[in-house]
Amino acid sequence: MIVTARKTSLTGIKPTGEPHLGNLIGAIEPAIEMAAGDYESLYFIADYHALTTARDPEQLAHWTRSVAATWLAAGLDPQRTVFYRQSDVPETFELSWVFSCITGKGLMNRAHAYKAARDANVAAGDDPDAGVNMGLYNYPILMAVDILIMEAHLVPVGRDQQQHVEIAADIAGSYNHLYGDRGYRFPVPEAVIPPETTGHTLPGLDGRKMSKSYDNYIPLFLAAPKLRKLVRRIPTDSTPVEDPKDPDSSAVFQILAQFAPDDVVADTRARLEAGGVGWGELKNQLADVLEERLAPMRERYEALMEPGSELDDALAQGGAIARERAARVLRSVRHAVGIS
Ligand code: TRP
Repeated sequence: MIVTARKTSLTGIKPTGEPHLGNLIGAIEPAIEMAAGDYESLYFIADYHALTTARDPEQLAHWTRSVAATWLAAGLDPQRTVFYRQSDVPETFELSWVFSCITGKGLMNRAHAYKAARDANVAAGDDPDAGVNMGLYNYPILMAVDILIMEAHLVPVGRDQQQHVEIAADIAGSYNHLYGDRGYRFPVPEAVIPPETTGHTLPGLDGRKMSKSYDNYIPLFLAAPKLRKLVRRIPTDSTPVEDPKDPDSSAVFQILAQFAPDDVVADTRARLEAGGVGWGELKNQLADVLEERLAPMRERYEALMEPGSELDDALAQGGAIARERAARVLRSVRHAVGIS
């Protein structure tokens, strides 16, 4: 057995949509950077979490594969990071029951996603639980299992997931309090939230933050002509070509700034401020910059999406490692609670 003092970082990626430029800049690249650092890292595709809303089986299977392919194409190294599918670790569901039995219902009532659904129903004059399935209600427990069954210390997530990590910490505390003297204690996990100031957000096609929920995103793996067409749709003001322009108020420039090399960004800024560059020209430049950055990634993505590609090997290998860890933890828990 390898004894390591390194901290373990773990995060889950819910496969509920087409990966877009905002995901790459805001989540994928920072997480890959973190995995290259000093931590032991485990990243997984939370396909069973997606099932709380996904009702189209082919779509769910496609997104699960496509999100996994995206992370590998973006540079995640599966030799360095344990990369797996949640559904390849069925031990998850045994621990999920144990946690359900030591978690107060009141704690789940206060979870944001459930509370939001309930408040919306009440505001609309409907039954408070209309349209709420038990998967949505139990979502935080499943997430606590994901984190604790791998004995993670650090959980890099967006601010919207912070409460879920706190719930996982609460559940670890309850378990440790009840059973901690029976040979096994869970590490108490902590969320790692990227500071808002890192500039890792992208504006979308309507100038608001690029997001699936606003439907204003640029997908990562569009063919070049389609990519160009979408870039042309980014709104701009009517400043005449010859007038000086403020780069920082332009969504086109902000996207360019995240994808072009620093010297190109500085030069483009100077040219916009001097006047004489039209928005159309800037959009063409952005389309070129994106194509150059994304083309190699797209090629790799497409190869990984082929049936029987390296993707399958990587997930099988990661799944086996994850499962072994989970089985070890579950054995200790079963013994501790009196089921062996
Ligand atoms: N709920 C997370 C999201 O929607 C995905 C997720 C599932 C997760 N299990 C996790 C994130 C465990 C971190 C750790 O983004």
